[in-house]
Amino acid sequence: MLLLLALCLGLPLCAGSLEEARSWGDTSEQGGLRAPRQVRLLQRLKTKPLMTEFSVKSTIISRYAFTTVSCRMLNRASEDQDAEFLMHIPASAFITNFTMLVGDKVFQGEITEREKENGDKVKEKRNKTAEDNGEKGPDAFRASAVIPSKGKAVFLLSYEELLHRRLGKYEHVVSVRPQQLVGRLTVEVNILERAGLSSLEVLPPQDTRQRHGGRAEDDTGPPPSTVINQNETFAKVLFKPSVVQQAKIAQNGILGDFIVRYDVNRAQSIGDVQVLDGYFVHYFAPRDLPPLPKNVVFVLDSSASMVGAKLRQTKDALFTILHDLRPQDRFSIIGFSNRIKVWKDHLVAVTPDSIRDGKVYIHHMSPTGGTDINGALQTAIRLLSSYVARNDIEERSVSLVVFLTDGKPTVGETSTARILNNTKAATRGRVCVFTIGIGDDVDFRLLEKLSLENCGLTRRVREEADAGAQLVGFYDEIRTPLLSDIRIGYPPGLVQQATRTFFPNYFNGSEIVIAGKLVDRQLDRLRVEVTASNSKKFVVLKTDVPVEPQRAGGPGPEDNGTAGPNPLERLWSYLTVRELLSSWLQSGDGREKERLRQQAQALAVNSRFLTPFTRMRLKKAPGTRQPQRADAVDVSAATGPGTAVQSPPPGPALEKPHDPRIKVSRTSADGDPHFVVDFPTSGLTVCFNVDGQPGDILRLVSDHAGSGVTVNGQLVGAPAPPGGHKKQRTYFQTITILVTKPARSYLEVTPRRVILDGEDRRVLPCNQSAVAGSRGLELSVSANANVTVTIQGTIAFVILMHLYKKPAAYQRDHLGFYIASGGGLSGSCHGLLGQFLNQEARLTGAPARLSPSSTGPPPPQAGGASAATLQVAGHQVPVVWKQRRIYNGEEQVDCWFARSAGQLLDGAYEDYLAAHPFDADTVLGLGRPRGPAVVALT
Ligand SMILES: *[C@@H]1O[C@H](CO)[C@@H](O)[C@H](O)[C@H]1NC(C)=O
Ligand SMILES: *[C@@H]1O[C@H](CO)[C@@H](O)[C@H](O)[C@H]1NC(C)=O
Ligand SMILES: *[C@@H]1O[C@H](CO)[C@@H](O)[C@H](O)[C@H]1NC(C)=O
Ligand SMILES: *[C@@H]1O[C@H](CO)[C@@H](O)[C@H](O)[C@H]1NC(C)=O
Ligand SMILES: *[C@@H]1O[C@H](CO)[C@@H](O)[C@H](O)[C@H]1NC(C)=O
Ligand SMILES: *[C@@H]1O[C@H](CO)[C@@H](O)[C@H](O)[C@H]1NC(C)=O
Repeated sequence: MLLLLALCLGLPLCAGSLEEARSWGDTSEQGGLRAPRQVRLLQRLKTKPLMTEFSVKSTIISRYAFTTVSCRMLNRASEDQDAEFLMHIPASAFITNFTMLVGDKVFQGEITEREKENGDKVKEKRNKTAEDNGEKGPDAFRASAVIPSKGKAVFLLSYEELLHRRLGKYEHVVSVRPQQLVGRLTVEVNILERAGLSSLEVLPPQDTRQRHGGRAEDDTGPPPSTVINQNETFAKVLFKPSVVQQAKIAQNGILGDFIVRYDVNRAQSIGDVQVLDGYFVHYFAPRDLPPLPKNVVFVLDSSASMVGAKLRQTKDALFTILHDLRPQDRFSIIGFSNRIKVWKDHLVAVTPDSIRDGKVYIHHMSPTGGTDINGALQTAIRLLSSYVARNDIEERSVSLVVFLTDGKPTVGETSTARILNNTKAATRGRVCVFTIGIGDDVDFRLLEKLSLENCGLTRRVREEADAGAQLVGFYDEIRTPLLSDIRIGYPPGLVQQATRTFFPNYFNGSEIVIAGKLVDRQLDRLRVEVTASNSKKFVVLKTDVPVEPQRAGGPGPEDNGTAGPNPLERLWSYLTVRELLSSWLQSGDGREKERLRQQAQALAVNSRFLTPFTRMRLKKAPGTRQPQRADAVDVSAATGPGTAVQSPPPGPALEKPHDPRIKVSRTSADGDPHFVVDFPTSGLTVCFNVDGQPGDILRLVSDHAGSGVTVNGQLVGAPAPPGGHKKQRTYFQTITILVTKPARSYLEVTPRRVILDGEDRRVLPCNQSAVAGSRGLELSVSANANVTVTIQGTIAFVILMHLYKKPAAYQRDHLGFYIASGGGLSGSCHGLLGQFLNQEARLTGAPARLSPSSTGPPPPQAGGASAATLQVAGHQVPVVWKQRRIYNGEEQVDCWFARSAGQLLDGAYEDYLAAHPFDADTVLGLGRPRGPAVVALT
């Protein structure tokens, strides 16, 4: 077996970073050789491992987000199974930790240096990763492992990121794509902002992988089950959808992105400075400044590949953008393919006429030819430079190229290095280039570098229905420049190793963040000096900013002590590594590049960030051995010789389940679950016990593929009464029924209430009699006594409520489940009870003194033990004669008790575990080899 970990990250590691680790001895291959046919059959039947838990917890402190993902999987099959853990993480995040527990082994990720050769190769690999996206797109983290049969796996992943402010909000995005419905699914986001939260909203889950804050956003509010608790400085958002709620969002368990958006209060125009343990962070986001005039040239790719929706959407987006230009702005438009087509050979003032003419020009653009990126950029920059040269230098304005393409350079200059070189030489730092790549064919690396080297931003837009909205959203971020040439200064002796302090532009709605170390930890004021240009003049702001020491506290607001990492130190490391990476990317000088690489690598290893210069190795943690699961332990069963005989009457089908007295089938699971199965055609009743674990969900009836009916029961634990031979007992606390035909209905019964979720949701208290129905499912509640469920008129179940007025310490209100009529269930029905429904049973090997026919119950035996062998569904099980009370003790049944339930049942205990109350998956019932018996018996 192979244990595989593949990381596909923004600066990608895929091929280079495959880590392989041998684990326990291979058995599946040998098994495959011995019984190839069986294996092939099983492979076809194989379902993926069950995810029992998927939980994400983020703690955001001063806009720095720590996120941990925890995912548990269970392999119920009798074969080893591949499990894949897939998590999309934001492209700007660094993975910091990964741990995998498989079976009883622990694999711990460790971040180490990546070899230099690999570091250089990174560049070439970038455009090959499938999940590689633009600045904002998520990256995929994948890990896969082989989970041994009946085993569990836990995947723990941590990542960190600084949230960027865009359009006046911070946005924290958590990908919730477990690929299946999950029993326990939670997303918890805690936000601590000392400055105070000015707004907070939770968006509806969105499946678009890339959203760019387009303007048209539906505001239907947070998804169901979201709870927001918030005061001035702290917010806790909890999303905990039940399986039914998940199914209503998406049957396939792909709920999309869970997005929390917020902003903080800003008291000082010069920004907010926070200090903790020698680290500071300065957030600068002034408002209420007059916008700077902008000179903008829109450069549109009109090569042949843009044909169709791409060009249409681009045109529509441009129309919107042109309307947003302000009267003091200047603009022009260039279309390019093989040739460069200039609308006007100079910049044009914004007037209603010029906007209309521009739109007409764009409207008539038609796609032809190749892609001359170099020529188009040169022309655009020339237009801007000559405008600025000819006009009053005193007038401060910002010059921008908005460059949009869907392809690679194919005409004119096609060398990436020379295009970059030419562009940089032409802009001379005075024109900023904003690039947008549409679709998958772009040379995104080139666009990224063009922007990085020319004070711009880049964005990749997917070819989706909303590409136009994404374009407009990106433009919105840059449409309002407020300051240019911003320099932030601190007194030289007081601050060390500050991150970048020069910024070419500041756009409304964004934020400038600087982090550094303080030389004097006792400082209570920090002098901050900001110089910048705005529309009127050169501005200088100087203020002493009071520094309020932040309270310590790492991830998790409940951690009080110094246990957690210093978030400001993490933030500083994060920003520093990000900046080193982008300098490395821009640098053309070999020695300089190597120095940057080493610096970034050292800090990344130190801070445990997974970057292009670091790698993650999975190491098996030593000495982690979990206690062996208790295998079939045969606890002595209190079975005395049978003394009474009661001939079980063969049951007529239940016509009217509402009629309480018709009890046909005693087939039931009740008490500490004691199972009784009637074989009416054989005249036999069999009973067995299952000792489950509290919290486990047992499959009672699994007929998803047939009649569409699934019944699961969840166990609750209770201490055994004094003097009992067991330590604890388990009872059914919740019975859930999923019906998929003719339409989906979800029923959940507890001793307190019944919830029916079908066309709509009804909650019925159990202390009132009521009747309800939904899509082929009828329900009747008898107050404090029972619930009768009829499905499609042919299936009837009765759920008894066992309620205690004054429960003793060992008593729990619980439920009993009875199959009143199983006529409509199919022949492939399975589950702890369901598997016996259409079976014959036979007694053999009974002692001679028992009834010679061996099929009926034995005659009364005066003090003699009655033992026999039961044959059912190909299993041979020793049984003893026993009495049992069912129906609240109202009825006594005599049954053949199988001590070893594991021999009676198809499969092992784990095979009967459901991942969540409405889990309908099953791989049982197809004559597969029996697993080891691990059902502990009483
Ligand atoms: C990584 O995560 C594991 C499991 O949560 C934890 O035990 C370990 O301490 C973490 N490692 C680091 C370096 O934080
Ligand atoms: C990108 O992909 C193309 C083929 O799709 C390949 O020729 C090229 O080497 C890759 N790398 C870069 C950096 O363009
Ligand atoms: C906000 O709530 C958190 C957590 O409940 C608490 O620690 C903090 O003191 C509260 N702050 C204010 C201003 O009420
Ligand atoms: C970039 O341009 C400069 C002069 O403008 C030249 O010296 C240098 O060799 C060029 N580099 C490349 C890679 O073309
Ligand atoms: C949290 O604070 C309490 C009381 O101040 C202290 O007893 C406890 O040890 C602290 N916990 C940690 C993890 O430091
Ligand atoms: C349900 O409870 C009612 C009230 O106690 C009782 O009359 C009726 O017989 C019960 N129905 C079944 C099917 O047990």
